Amino acid sequence: QTTLRGAADGLNKDIGVAVSYNLLQNNAQYRNLVATEFNSLTAENAMKWDATEPSDGNYTFTQADAIVDFAEDNGQSVHGHTFVWHQQTPSWVQNLSGTALQTAMIEHINTVANRYEGRVASWDVVNEVVSDSNGAMRDSFWLRGLGEGYITTAFQTARAADPNADLYINDYSIEGDNAKSDRIYTIAQGLVNQGLLDGVGFQAHLILGQVPGDMEANLQRFVDLGLKVRITELDVRIQTPADAGELQQQANDYRRVAEICAELADCSGVTVWGVRDGDSWVPGVFPGYGAPLLFNDDLSKKPAYNAVLEALGGG
Ligand code: G3I
Repeated sequence: QTTLRGAADGLNKDIGVAVSYNLLQNNAQYRNLVATEFNSLTAENAMKWDATEPSDGNYTFTQADAIVDFAEDNGQSVHGHTFVWHQQTPSWVQNLSGTALQTAMIEHINTVANRYEGRVASWDVVNEVVSDSNGAMRDSFWLRGLGEGYITTAFQTARAADPNADLYINDYSIEGDNAKSDRIYTIAQGLVNQGLLDGVGFQAHLILGQVPGDMEANLQRFVDLGLKVRITELDVRIQTPADAGELQQQANDYRRVAEICAELADCSGVTVWGVRDGDSWVPGVFPGYGAPLLFNDDLSKKPAYNAVLEALGGG
């Protein structure tokens, strides 16, 4: 196989990419590459609450619809991202409390999940609910307004709205065994016991040379709960400008993550968080870092591309 898509198809796994509505609309080369190299799409922003329900009850699905249509036209699946997050949620939601907040959450999940029932294979139901300190719950307006029970409510609502979609809990810095992934593990156990969870999404926004040595073992403990695992937002950031040695190290990091997913039968796939280095969120949030993806800005392939292709059995 000479494409990521061909290789991943051979393993019966997803090789996904986060896509931008604007680029899919306006850039034919980007469009062609997304269709050729990937069998799964995630909307980088278009399915988030601020994009889909900017004001109470006023739903705007133009961008999300276009991405789902594109996926169907090209025989790709869609991993939905995301219902409940503390970012990119409009202030009208954040200003609610108690029953009104819970009602808005339930209504939003019902509306979006129902719209894409049968067309979106899996959902990140909740995103980033654990904080970065000692595995405490994230102190978000969700937690403050509704208590920890909002997580169960979100999953119950999503399960009822689309019983056939796989439901994921998604977070970053949980690739290795640490306090944060331990907390996710505890939450996951509780949801599994209620039949509400199908998988755990490991975002994997990684720093060059820092794939955790215990990543495979950590994913395995979630598999042992009966769950799928998925690499949902993979990128590997480098201090820019990146030299040839760093690009080779990056390739090795990508190879390792793709190998782990290839080795685990219950790993549903790997999604990279963008196409070209210049499309990435990284430099905006981590000044001085960048070059985190598989393709250069002219869409030529980086060493990391070939490493992922080989890890998936292609080349
Ligand atoms: O749409 C507006 C546009 O109208 C405006 O002119 C422009 C000016 O800043 O901003 C545009 O919105 C930006 C949006 O991306 C769409 O491009 C926001 O400012 C920007 O903050 C937003 O960033 C996104 C970020 O999530 C927000 O937290 C990134 O694209 C997206 O890659 C990133 O993705 C997250 C995952 O959802 C969750 N995990 C972490 C990951 C990386 O932060």
